[in-house]
Amino acid sequence: MSAEIVVIGAGVIGLSCAIKLQANFTVTIVAKDFPAPFETIDPIAQINYTSPWGGAHNRWVPPSPSGENAREHAFALTTWKHMRALRDVNPESGITFMKGIEYLEAPSIEYTSLTEARAKELNMEGFRLLQPGEFPDDRVKWGCVYDTWCVNPMVYCCFLLRKFTMGGGRIRKRELRDVAEVFALPPEDFGLGRVDAVVNASGYGIGADPNMYVTKGQTCLVGDPCPATLTRQNADGSWTFSVPRGYDGGTVIGGTKEVDDWGTRPSEEVREKLLGDFRETWPGVPAGRFYTVIADIVGRRPTRKGGPRIEGEAIKDGHFVMHAYGLGGRGYELSWGVAEEVAKRVEDHFA
Ligand SMILES: Cc1cc2nc3c(=O)[nH]c(=O)nc-3n(C[C@H](O)[C@H](O)[C@H](O)COP(=O)(O)OP(=O)(O)OC[C@H]3O[C@@H](n4cnc5c(N)ncnc54)[C@H](O)[C@@H]3O)c2cc1C
Ligand SMILES: *[C@@H]1O[C@H](CO)[C@@H](O)[C@H](O)[C@H]1NC(C)=O
Ligand SMILES: *[C@@H]1O[C@H](CO)[C@@H](O)[C@H](O)[C@H]1NC(C)=O
Ligand SMILES: *[C@@H]1O[C@H](CO)[C@@H](O)[C@H](O)[C@H]1NC(C)=O
Repeated sequence: MSAEIVVIGAGVIGLSCAIKLQANFTVTIVAKDFPAPFETIDPIAQINYTSPWGGAHNRWVPPSPSGENAREHAFALTTWKHMRALRDVNPESGITFMKGIEYLEAPSIEYTSLTEARAKELNMEGFRLLQPGEFPDDRVKWGCVYDTWCVNPMVYCCFLLRKFTMGGGRIRKRELRDVAEVFALPPEDFGLGRVDAVVNASGYGIGADPNMYVTKGQTCLVGDPCPATLTRQNADGSWTFSVPRGYDGGTVIGGTKEVDDWGTRPSEEVREKLLGDFRETWPGVPAGRFYTVIADIVGRRPTRKGGPRIEGEAIKDGHFVMHAYGLGGRGYELSWGVAEEVAKRVEDHFA
């Protein structure tokens, strides 16, 4: 009989882990929030459910010459390849491949050392350095383009949930007080046998880890499509970006990164600044009708000092918990790498 695994969380991380684990285990997802059409997600009551509020695109973060970020880059590559395969086999999955454009005003060593040869070693397909004549203005000091993907978050997460369920996965919509509660749930209420292991993919939700904090992000959803995902990093630390969601989902124009800010309300002033900065960076594009404001978005990136926690832990009574949280602003782009690592470590635990 295969082991029973409970995955806590139905954000992009919990769903991806659950699908990977399903190959060899009996898997149940327990979560307070599940994916649903974007229009039905409540911006206040579900603000802690981060996955609907993401862009979401893949933006390469190159490892430094001394190897920082190497694990994350490997996760991003695994995800990129998996996204391309899914797009080919399941065109309904909400994934669109397009060009990613980057403009940097104050590039760090990770970028200035990123030649086309180095990008090839790092497997960044379609990578090309931009020439100064291609920059939008002279504050930009470095730029590149590459082949990347964007997803429409709720189209994609609903697809993952369907795939999991059609693969025999079970779901329970519950709010838990503690990870350990899963091991104590009465089988008659819960409809499960013994639980052999738990995956903690709770985003920020259970909140006992002192290294966790939130990074608030405000973006603006416009109703129009956009031909590429563009990211500009300004010298003052602010960001300007577009993330086309595809599948009639419009384009996200962003965005702020506000550490430890628990605010829930979008600011109109911030919205006007985001749209204005984007217009300046990409004046001609897209032509005609653009900037039909549909909604202001506020989300909380579940961020962790020291980076994501992807590790197993024996908690009281010898129960095994595999942690998969703290993905910050990179949950989508690292998702399949994280899921593969989680599945491997759970396999090892039972080997
Ligand atoms: C403005 C913005 C833009 C972003 N853009 C991008 C981008 O372009 N690319 C990218 O890769 N990432 C992006 N992100 C980040 C990305 O959205 C997150 O990293 C990702 O959604 C985190 O997923 P998760 O599954 O860890 O958490 P969540 O989506 O928050 O899911 C947590 C799950 O755990 C459940 N849960 C929590 N607590 C409990 C409990 N006590 N009991 C039961 N269930 C519980 C929740 O109900 C939910 O199902 C962006 C985020 C924001 C805010
Ligand atoms: C499932 O188990 C097989 C055999 O042990 C192993 O080769 C495979 O990697 C496992 N699948 C996953 C997704 O971990
Ligand atoms: C979001 O999480 C915070 C911190 O755990 C909590 O105080 C708040 O009540 C949550 N908000 C909602 C709407 O659940
Ligand atoms: C589970 O994840 C949360 C983040 O949502 C973290 O704070 C907590 O420490 C983790 N572990 C346990 C055993 O709760």
